[in-house]
Amino acid sequence: MLEVTDLHVNYGPVRAVHGVSFTAEAGSITLVLGANGAGKTTSLRAVAGFHKPASGSVTFDGKTMTGMAAHKVVRRGMVLVPEGRKIFFPLSIEENLRIGGYAAPRGGLDAGIEEVYEKFPILGERRNSQAGLLSGGEQQMLAFGRALMSKPKLMLMDEPSMGLAPTMVEKVLSSVRTMADAGIGILMVEQNADAGLRIADSVVVVNRGETVWTGTASEARGNKAIVHAMLGEAALDDA
Ligand SMILES: Nc1ncnc2c1ncn2[C@@H]1O[C@H](COP(=O)(O)OP(=O)(O)OP(=O)(O)O)[C@@H](O)[C@H]1O
Ligand SMILES: [Mg+2]
Repeated sequence: MLEVTDLHVNYGPVRAVHGVSFTAEAGSITLVLGANGAGKTTSLRAVAGFHKPASGSVTFDGKTMTGMAAHKVVRRGMVLVPEGRKIFFPLSIEENLRIGGYAAPRGGLDAGIEEVYEKFPILGERRNSQAGLLSGGEQQMLAFGRALMSKPKLMLMDEPSMGLAPTMVEKVLSSVRTMADAGIGILMVEQNADAGLRIADSVVVVNRGETVWTGTASEARGNKAIVHAMLGEAALDDA
């Protein structure tokens, strides 16, 4: 579904990403692991159309979309759930969802909102509340819901569990698994490697701007010492 090959992205003279490759499939969770500054966010943002790659290729559903602008990427069926959630705090939950559905077909907006409320009932119960009053975990669900409004085939998620209490981490990640089981492809950056490995199907390890390892999640679970060595200390709590 998604094939990213030898991606290079620079910030002026800074070579942030220089050789990242990965694939993602429908109905499957690909976990991207890597230390701080490894280039995970930059890679996701370049694939989603927010940075122009210096070189490399991005192919989605057999079509090249390297360097395509973000709004066009969304129309092709790929959407970024950004780091830090980027919820519009002063707006209501429902207004946030409407923004996510800006490209939805005429008449499809209300149906899309109802589908999100079915997946995340807490959002429906509080549809008219200010989004800024939601807990961190609920805000993450709203960020997922807003992304779902564009009817994506693939969601790119940047650290969805960041800053959440452990019980909320489990809830948020289990909702990611549910979205994948419904057929959506997921490419997820996750600092919490153990929690991510529990739900992932395949794994990509990025180190200093390059892909250094890819394999199945069960290989990674069975070989935590290697993953640990590539990520550095404290990456896996029980390795
Ligand atoms: N706007 C920017 N200008 C210059 N350099 C940047 C910019 N954003 C990121 N970088 C650099 O690019 C590299 C990759 O950063 P990136 O944010 O992609 O890493 P990351 O893997 O997402 O890290 P983290 O785990 O901290 O989120 C780092 O060296 C970072 O300092
Ligand atoms: Mg990041």
